[in-house]
Amino acid sequence: MSTSNTFTALQVMQDAPVIPVIVLNDVKHAVPMARALVAGGVRMLEVTLRTPQALACIEAIAREVPEAVVGAGTVRSRADAQAAANAGSRFAVSPGYTSAVGQACRDVGLALLPGVATGGEIMMAQEDGFTELKFFPAMQAGGPAMLKAWSGPFFDVKFCPTGGVSLQNAPEFLSLPNVVCVGGSWLVPADAMAQGDWARITQLALDTKALRK
Ligand code: 3PG
Repeated sequence: MSTSNTFTALQVMQDAPVIPVIVLNDVKHAVPMARALVAGGVRMLEVTLRTPQALACIEAIAREVPEAVVGAGTVRSRADAQAAANAGSRFAVSPGYTSAVGQACRDVGLALLPGVATGGEIMMAQEDGFTELKFFPAMQAGGPAMLKAWSGPFFDVKFCPTGGVSLQNAPEFLSLPNVVCVGGSWLVPADAMAQGDWARITQLALDTKALRK
């Protein structure tokens, strides 16, 4: 499947206030879940490579929901990057940063939103040309105060805080000049997915419109 139609990391971040972090255990859920998020105005979808079904879910969304832009999360290796691209991912998100993963994503033509939690990791990612980064795990690693501290030395970096972010605390993150969007799993609760409650997922996506910067 072609991966030529990719987005930059900044475009992925700017599309909506929230990038949903999605864990799929059943391929049958992938398409209706993606359609439910798109109906709520959220089309950049991070499907995490954490379940045996994840790649098949990415394939299904890429094939059947053209309005969505599906990406792979939890990309930790060259093999993950290759598999994500082969499945039709159009961007990648990693929980941490290594140069090997950065290069692998470039080699397969995927924009990467690399995860960082320390100044050293930010510097490594910047050395390799990445200036839009995921701050993970955001709440556990220092929350908004950490991003404020980083805005001095890393004035030229933009962040997508993810991990412990909710509809309630998202505004505090989004009010920071170095935050473009947030990531979170709250848009796709496991029980809503198990029950096929797609209307609830659409409503959770619609609720994020109030967060628009
Ligand atoms: C993750 O990779 O699990 C994400 O950071 C989601 O975190 P959350 O469930 O706290 O939103």
